[in-house]
Amino acid sequence: MEYRKLGSSDLKVSVIGFGAWGIGGAPFWSTEGDTMSVKSIKKAFDLGINFFDTAPVYGFGRSERLIGRALKPVRDQVILATKCGLRWQKETLSSISKVATRESIMEEIDQSLKRLDTDVIDLYQVHWPDGKTAHEETMEALLNIREQGKIRYIGVSNYSVQEMQDCLKTGPLVSLQPEYSLLQRAIEKETVPFCLIHDIGVIAYSPLASGVLTGKYDRDTKFKDWRSKGIIGQFTGEAYQRNIEKVERLKKIAEAAGKTCGQMAVNWVVRQPGVASALVGVKNDRQVEENLKSAGWQPDAPVQDEIDRIFAVEG
Ligand SMILES: NC(=O)c1ccc[n+]([C@@H]2O[C@H](COP(=O)([O-])OP(=O)(O)OC[C@H]3O[C@@H](n4cnc5c(N)ncnc54)[C@H](OP(=O)(O)O)[C@@H]3O)[C@@H](O)[C@H]2O)c1
Repeated sequence: MEYRKLGSSDLKVSVIGFGAWGIGGAPFWSTEGDTMSVKSIKKAFDLGINFFDTAPVYGFGRSERLIGRALKPVRDQVILATKCGLRWQKETLSSISKVATRESIMEEIDQSLKRLDTDVIDLYQVHWPDGKTAHEETMEALLNIREQGKIRYIGVSNYSVQEMQDCLKTGPLVSLQPEYSLLQRAIEKETVPFCLIHDIGVIAYSPLASGVLTGKYDRDTKFKDWRSKGIIGQFTGEAYQRNIEKVERLKKIAEAAGKTCGQMAVNWVVRQPGVASALVGVKNDRQVEENLKSAGWQPDAPVQDEIDRIFAVEG
């Protein structure tokens, strides 16, 4: 396993990270049960993954609790990343809202520490900007809890260049967690260059486009989880059909190279500039084993060119 320095921090994260959204289950995903989730986390650690990303909202605490429980015996050997900024009234999708106020962060940090069963969180990220709270207020609260020893480093997720610039006026950011995959390349133009200049490590989320790039779905697939809602347009309608066509071509290229389609997709992400780690979401230990083999190699130049042609950014 390759480990990369995360931005300006002294954290060295595995290039394949464990994405713990899926194991949180409802209301977003279905899982294979907590026993399998814990087995998957332990398998990931045993195989060299040291970077685990979760959030309070993933299963309304369930994901954080599972990560805390599974990694307790090896806490000093792993990097725990969680988030703040998404709150809920009831355990329903529609009651989730973005809140990045000082008051909320002060409450959230103690809840996360408790659920993760740890004294300190290595990387604490604001999940989404809330569009209302001044970035100065959010950053000051984060600096406060860092001074209190509750977190080690501050990161953000889903922030624009402008929003990161505003945050940097108050304090340092070591990472940005954006969506990044062969099917979602919006960060390449402005965000990645900004991160490179400011030594902000890119932690790519949904590198498999939430499963679509594994090649196991086809034109007729009807998703039964959050993907059925087409929240980001990747899983329904014409966009989905276009994506599947590209994935089918990637699948053939991967087969010819002796890799799986998912491995080829994640491999592409970890070879991109600025990327410190790709957070791959998993449901079971078999997926962990397969996904781990996505790093540590690179396709021949003609194969790389063909992948670039298929997934070229339009417009
Ligand atoms: N900051 C944010 O706003 C944000 C948003 C999204 C995600 N994330 C982070 O990024 C992580 C990964 O994102 P993600 O879960 O959306 O997507 P992903 O890694 O692109 O896809 C994960 C899904 O693909 C399928 N899969 C994974 N490995 C597989 C394998 N070897 N064979 C077959 N199927 C496989 C599984 O779903 P099925 O088996 O059901 O197909 C799994 O849940 C999350 O867990 C979270 O940590 C962050």
